[in-house]
Amino acid sequence: MIKSFIRNCIVFFARRWGLPDPSLVIFKSDYPDGKLVGEPAQIGAFSVIDYGGGVFIGKNVKIGYGVIILSVSTITGSKNNIVLKKPVYIGDDAEIGSNVVVLPGVKIGKNATIGAGAVVTENVPDDSVAVGMPAHIVRIKSDIL
Ligand SMILES: CC(C)(COP(=O)(O)OP(=O)(O)OC[C@H]1O[C@@H](n2cnc3c(N)ncnc32)[C@H](O)[C@@H]1OP(=O)(O)O)[C@@H](O)C(=O)NCCC(=O)NCCS
Repeated sequence: MIKSFIRNCIVFFARRWGLPDPSLVIFKSDYPDGKLVGEPAQIGAFSVIDYGGGVFIGKNVKIGYGVIILSVSTITGSKNNIVLKKPVYIGDDAEIGSNVVVLPGVKIGKNATIGAGAVVTENVPDDSVAVGMPAHIVRIKSDIL
């Protein structure tokens, strides 16, 4: 009862001050050693960051709506493990479009952009634009300038 009152107060003031609604973004860890370092400068509603295996977020990182960042998974495919835990790193100034899924163990480089709807299965280098499923590089930002 007291908990839900406090939560409702936070949501009320967040909406009033135009801050992201905390009830619509889930930061979760079911693992005691899970670590979340840094916080996004911007994160859209319906996003989930599971930091059970460690999630490290650089400065000025922008995250769209409905983004799922996984550092831990109980769905392990051919790895056949009980649980897969690997840290995710997101570099300074990276941008992650809406509905992106970032899988455990991925490093997204500084100033990289991930296009909406991508599934990021492998590392993305600094200054690159990656899109698709699985995410692949379509641009290097310095090429555009
Ligand atoms: C990736 C993005 C940032 C555009 O970056 P860009 O460097 O300008 O890239 P371009 O538009 O030149 O597209 C490069 C190529 O990738 C393709 N592409 C762009 N976005 C894509 C996406 N999300 N999924 C698949 N392909 C995509 C383009 O069709 C183009 O393909 P082509 O070279 O065969 O023509 C933009 O398309 C995007 O996805 N923005 C995310 C928006 C969002 O989710 N915002 C959150 C709310 S704030």
